[in-house]
Amino acid sequence: MARLTGDIPGKRRFKAAMVGGGQGAYFASFHRAAMRLCNRFDIVAGAFSSVPEKCLEAGTALNIAKDRIYSTFEEMAAVESQRPDPIDVVVIVTPNHLHFEPCRLFLEAGIPVICDKPLVNDPEQAHTLARIAERQNTFFAVTYTYQGYPMVRDARSRVLAGELGEIRFMYVEYLLEWLAPGVATLNKSLAWRGDPAKAGPTGALGDVGTHAFNMLEFLSGKRCTNLNAKLTTVVPDWGLDDTCVVQLEFEGGVDGLLWASFAAPGHRNGLRFKIVGSKASIEWRQEAPETLLFTPIDAADRIYRRGQGDNVPQTLEFTSLPAGNTEGYLEALAVLYADFAEALDAGQHWRSATRVPLPDIHDGVRGVFLSQVCVESNARRAWLPFPPT
Ligand SMILES: NC(=O)c1ccc[n+]([C@@H]2O[C@H](COP(=O)([O-])OP(=O)(O)OC[C@H]3O[C@@H](n4cnc5c(N)ncnc54)[C@H](O)[C@@H]3O)[C@@H](O)[C@H]2O)c1
Repeated sequence: MARLTGDIPGKRRFKAAMVGGGQGAYFASFHRAAMRLCNRFDIVAGAFSSVPEKCLEAGTALNIAKDRIYSTFEEMAAVESQRPDPIDVVVIVTPNHLHFEPCRLFLEAGIPVICDKPLVNDPEQAHTLARIAERQNTFFAVTYTYQGYPMVRDARSRVLAGELGEIRFMYVEYLLEWLAPGVATLNKSLAWRGDPAKAGPTGALGDVGTHAFNMLEFLSGKRCTNLNAKLTTVVPDWGLDDTCVVQLEFEGGVDGLLWASFAAPGHRNGLRFKIVGSKASIEWRQEAPETLLFTPIDAADRIYRRGQGDNVPQTLEFTSLPAGNTEGYLEALAVLYADFAEALDAGQHWRSATRVPLPDIHDGVRGVFLSQVCVESNARRAWLPFPPT
């Protein structure tokens, strides 16, 4: 029970680089905090911005050697792959339209990649990356952050062990409120999420719907086979969907429903799921991540709490603090990073090195298909096969 706190004796450390994450960036600082918590990664290089002065400013502030602060990610890929002590992994935290090219360059150079979601904006690009990664068996992970929560993993273990009986329905919602007051209130980091040239073909769906979709597949081990989507824009002047409702069908004919929105007042970071089985249901929500509600037929509700003796044994391996000392979002991302480190330790055998499957390039590709198929389904008002044929 010391996933992030068992720091003595230390294990192998990895030299990491970042693309994106200069002053004012949003999510890169979370990656850096998670890396510090995980205690297996050191940032030794970076191309932190499209503006060279900002790269230098961030690199200097992060104490990076001058010759490893790069003005462009192209230069970083070229130089690092020729160094006698190259980086072990690169982390890509740029806006969505700037994922493909750095992913391609670093993969081509044989350098492992951690990329944020959605993987890319275009299915062809997604295929290209998957082909390169497969050809070279290069480590590639997508940061589906919520997979790192111990009680999400506890839920997954219970679902897969059959504690709910036969799975009959799966529901997920991811609701946020930041767009509700209108586009005029947005900072730079939020505004690009409404620009199709940067965010991609979908807004709320591609940004948070991808997390929600991945969550249902992760929890159940079942793959989506068909879907029917309605994409809506309720906030004036927003350039993409800000709300979406997607009916899903999974292997075995199991039904599901996904609801995501950027414009749902009262919802701060409202990711929540419910899995309904023939014997019991299970429910979890991100804003109270330490507990899992398990409700069997005709018996008392059970509340499982992270870190206690009735967690699934494997869950305890992913936790760090005693029950009651709250773990949260940063720890969840750090748990993912701890998995990444374990996989990187395993070299060529990285795919089978972790206790839960890594969110890999194929999960990233499915997130890209999700946007593609939902756009088409919405336009045709029709159910469509998933992934597209
Ligand atoms: N996994 C999660 O839970 C999660 C959460 C938030 C964001 N994200 C994803 O993270 C990514 C970044 O989102 P954000 O909110 O941090 O965006 P942001 O706009 O705050 O930051 C983007 C960063 O990329 C830099 N950048 C832009 N062009 C560049 C280039 N050519 N070379 C190098 N750097 C460049 C910018 O200067 C900035 O530092 C997005 O893909 C987003 O979907 C994931």
